[in-house]
Amino acid sequence: MEIRYLGHSSFFISFNGFKILFDPFITPNDLAKDIIDIKTLDPDYILISHAHQDHTHDAEEILKSSNATLIAIHEIATYYQNKGITNVHGMNLGGKNTFDFGTVHMVQAIHSSSFLDGTYGGCPSGFVIESGNRTYYYAGDTALFSDMKMIGENFKLDIAFLPIGDNYTMGIEDAVLATNYLKVDKFIGMHYDTFPVIEIDHIQCDYFAKRNDKKLILLPIGGSINL
Ligand code: NI
Ligand code: MN
Repeated sequence: MEIRYLGHSSFFISFNGFKILFDPFITPNDLAKDIIDIKTLDPDYILISHAHQDHTHDAEEILKSSNATLIAIHEIATYYQNKGITNVHGMNLGGKNTFDFGTVHMVQAIHSSSFLDGTYGGCPSGFVIESGNRTYYYAGDTALFSDMKMIGENFKLDIAFLPIGDNYTMGIEDAVLATNYLKVDKFIGMHYDTFPVIEIDHIQCDYFAKRNDKKLILLPIGGSINL
């Protein structure tokens, strides 16, 4: 499984020939727009955690050009349906569904969710994905919440994608606590550096994680790791 970072909270996961794009926000992201060309992305699925602009901006264009299937909470699925996109799969919190690439569990996130035009985006969400012999948790934008312990008990996670930029989401301290709740040793940081208010000190965050016996992975934009 290859995990490629597209900046902010956007990732492109390739697995067994399936290509899955998370929370596309590339063309307005000054850190990513010259590195990632959205025209070269040709996902089979786009997963959206919540409606905020910094998670959805490029979704409509990529959905139309790739004919990918959108997986998101009901209200977000309906929003794109109303824009003429027919390949949508709506879900809701606590539900799971098995697709050809694996099983997606939609889990809660503590955040808010509305589109730029004010349309209600339903509850914000995260995803636990069981794909082949890998299980991972993509938290979306969220505060730390104690039910992450339940995720840690119900799944044997290989890795977690956690926001670490603070202000709008968890910061590094809560993200490390989250890894304890989730029972994971390594986590991929997201939702940092894109805007001045979420800039982080990479060395300090890395040190903080290490001090707690955790491995923080900060991928360069365009960079990837194999899981
Ligand atoms: Ni958000
Ligand atoms: Mn966000």
